[in-house]
Amino acid sequence: MTDSIRWGMVGGGINGFIGEVHRLATRLDGGFSLVAGCFSSNDERNRASGALFGVPEDRVYGDFATMARYEAARIDGIQAVSIVTPNHLHFAAARAFLEAGIDVICDKPLSTTLSQARDLEAIARENGRTLAVTYNYTGNAMIRLARQIVADGALGTLRLVQVEYIQDWLTDNIEQMGQKQAQWRTDPQQAGRAGCLGDIGVHAYNLASFVTGLQAERVCADLTRFVPGRQVDDNVQATLDFGNGTRGALWASQVAVGSENALRLRLIGDKASLSWEQEHPNQLQFTEHGSARQILSRNGAGFPPSLQHLCRVPAGHPEGYLEAFANIYGEIRQQLQGGSGDFPDVGDAINDLAFIEACLASDDNDNCWSALER
Ligand SMILES: NC(=O)c1ccc[n+]([C@@H]2O[C@H](COP(=O)([O-])OP(=O)(O)OC[C@H]3O[C@@H](n4cnc5c(N)ncnc54)[C@H](O)[C@@H]3O)[C@@H](O)[C@H]2O)c1
Repeated sequence: MTDSIRWGMVGGGINGFIGEVHRLATRLDGGFSLVAGCFSSNDERNRASGALFGVPEDRVYGDFATMARYEAARIDGIQAVSIVTPNHLHFAAARAFLEAGIDVICDKPLSTTLSQARDLEAIARENGRTLAVTYNYTGNAMIRLARQIVADGALGTLRLVQVEYIQDWLTDNIEQMGQKQAQWRTDPQQAGRAGCLGDIGVHAYNLASFVTGLQAERVCADLTRFVPGRQVDDNVQATLDFGNGTRGALWASQVAVGSENALRLRLIGDKASLSWEQEHPNQLQFTEHGSARQILSRNGAGFPPSLQHLCRVPAGHPEGYLEAFANIYGEIRQQLQGGSGDFPDVGDAINDLAFIEACLASDDNDNCWSALER
């Protein structure tokens, strides 16, 4: 049995959202041991978090730069770190660990600018390190099946890529009411210039690219701030041109009343179409032109053996968000342990930041077409 990976976290203290999800995902995978962390900028919460997570007191650090230095110097130091702070800290934290020779798993968006993402790619390469990015939805078994269906050519020529990610939790100005997650997400100093676009629009774009294997060549984007006083967009509507006649549309919103976590992808080719919704992630609709719609199910009849390692239980027992997250961790672990893993990384993040910046440029420029930087 291979030893588990000695793992650390930056961010993810008590009451943080995604840090706990990362811990659950690693536990589901079973191959990571949390042994160090800098969980919060608040000293008391940092220590309380370390104690709650079972991290030795001397490995709970007051800042991530010290953590990187001390952990790199230890014989039993961490091999990988996950960064789950607000966006503006990702770049400096990722750089500190990569330069210390520690592999990095960063949540999205990897950085607040495209040029920072390119710098991180270079730093990871120079230091021979892995830089993974947790686009967790790509770990869903049915999304992997969708990618395979597209790659096999079953849709024919792809005509339309329709993707949306809509929520309603920012319908009111809750950033003014002390909601911490809303506060940093609507502050351009912490979130970056892209609000809803960088928070969930980037997941939608990444998912569409992952399944189709395509990148948009140019976009025409309209960013709106519906809530008075809000400093960043809370709604994005974009038209995408993928080249070779493939068109698309992306809608991301955090003011879509009645929507919870409605990430949905539809692909339409000249022979067939497919449709997937993250709130019903165990099913994938596949329809050949002129035939009845088929509902394919995770681990069900006809599910490919090559994807069964992404399923933990038989068909009909739902798997979803956490299992997909754990699948990403599992793929990363395989690579860190000397094998190869199929997971999103800095290359994906660069494409996604190019998308974000093209949308911002289009919106700045009267919604004109804006080319993605290659
Ligand atoms: N993959 C996903 O589905 C997904 C979902 C939610 C959030 N995210 C991303 O995860 C990141 C965190 O989002 P969240 O919703 O968990 O935010 P959050 O506000 O709930 O948590 C942020 C955590 O970072 C800690 N922190 C802040 N400054 C720090 C510092 N200097 N040093 C150490 N820790 C510090 C906070 O104490 C807190 O524990 C963001 O980049 C966000 O975009 C990804």
